[in-house]
Amino acid sequence: MGPGITRGGAEGVTADIATPLTLPCGARIRNRLCKAAMTEGLADAGNRATDRHVTLYRRWAQGGAGLLITGNVQVDRRYLERAGNIVIDGQQDPRQLGALEALASAGQMRDTHLWMQLSHAGRQTPKLIATEPVGPSDIPLALPGGRFGTPRALRGEEIRDVIDRFAHAARIARQTGFTGVQIHSAHGYLLSEFLSPRVNIRDDEWGGPLEHRARLLLECVRAARVATGPEFAIAVKLNSADFQQGGFSFDECLRVIEMLNQEGLDLLEISGGTYEQPRLLAIEGLEPVFEEQVRASTRAREAYFFDYAVAARRLARMPLMVTGGFRTRAGMDEALSGGEVDLVGLGRPLCVDPDFPARILAGEIAAAPEVERRLRFGPGMLGPHSPIKLMKVLNGFAKIGWYYEQIYRLADGQDPDLALGGLRALLAYDRTEKAKARALRRP
Ligand SMILES: Cc1cc2nc3c(=O)[nH]c(=O)nc-3n(C[C@H](O)[C@H](O)[C@H](O)COP(=O)(O)O)c2cc1C
Repeated sequence: MGPGITRGGAEGVTADIATPLTLPCGARIRNRLCKAAMTEGLADAGNRATDRHVTLYRRWAQGGAGLLITGNVQVDRRYLERAGNIVIDGQQDPRQLGALEALASAGQMRDTHLWMQLSHAGRQTPKLIATEPVGPSDIPLALPGGRFGTPRALRGEEIRDVIDRFAHAARIARQTGFTGVQIHSAHGYLLSEFLSPRVNIRDDEWGGPLEHRARLLLECVRAARVATGPEFAIAVKLNSADFQQGGFSFDECLRVIEMLNQEGLDLLEISGGTYEQPRLLAIEGLEPVFEEQVRASTRAREAYFFDYAVAARRLARMPLMVTGGFRTRAGMDEALSGGEVDLVGLGRPLCVDPDFPARILAGEIAAAPEVERRLRFGPGMLGPHSPIKLMKVLNGFAKIGWYYEQIYRLADGQDPDLALGGLRALLAYDRTEKAKARALRRP
């Protein structure tokens, strides 16, 4: 464990998944299991939270995790990750504030903490939302299928506006009863794009050396802190690496962690990858995975960014969470026992079984069920001429679509349907996203 970490309640104790954790802001998380951010797609046509959010978060709060983080809430309605995102920007109406309050209280049943993830989709805004998204530079995503337009480079005053938007959304999160925010700086969205030397080729104060590329993230963190005060949790989700040649590297990640050490963060979540290289879900991208040598540990191999967290721990002064691949109690306890990570992030297991944290804490089960093997399409499935690249992309969307469908079921008060097929999920995903985008009230 790094020096100066505040871990009240756990000092001198070997932690396991049941050990409480006190964060620097004073918040006490009652166990080490966190539901990681997962986009819900449940907002109405005006991007307001709905009763379905309330049902979903009540279910997850009852499921036993100490901390829940919402799916990405967008700070600019012009640039969404998908049509069903909640948006907090200048155009709030009282109905949105009431809906957010209802969501905040549903997610805090059973003494659970609920944080709001804040994001700007940047160049990963689909064409269904904006034909011309924005980014640090005008470099388009290298993905087949024409789903994303070529971005326009943000002007200096627009970058300042992004910072104000993150601060405003953080203030609203606090005002409506959330206990923290997580600033999304991973997975190839806007803040992560600024960090990447491959996507950010600016030559002003926001591009070039890492200190410049990290400025947007750091200023968003500072502005959110000023907007919310010292007793509100502020977290960051950061890529260990983009895993792309010329992208944000692990060495740069470590340097950004050193910069973030000065910012009084309550949690740093380590993830990795982008739409072009979806390592966050251990999905194969179109280009080879570009990996730096990180000294491999022999422990907790199921969590695929764990070795990065072990290396990050030596520098990081804030509590750390790793997300991606945790499935067994043994793997989670092992990762926590050495103090390399302070929280275990869980995504997909909570779509498959919303009570997974409670059941694994009670010792009722030792692992999450495996569901993904049969979601892969064989190479012949779309006919002999299917380009392999398209196959890979479709497999990725089928997987994601399958989890989206399970989230919808939970939001409708149903149980997950583990028998749902990959193709059905893919078609439903496509249909729903298009219908929602058509219905969206545009700014
Ligand atoms: C359906 C789905 C939606 C997701 N949406 C988000 C999101 O909104 N924000 C985010 O940071 N990560 C998102 N993720 C990534 C998860 O937070 C997590 O990093 C990833 O699922 C790996 O963890 P796991 O192996 O426990 O699922 C999403 C993942 C899934 C499966």
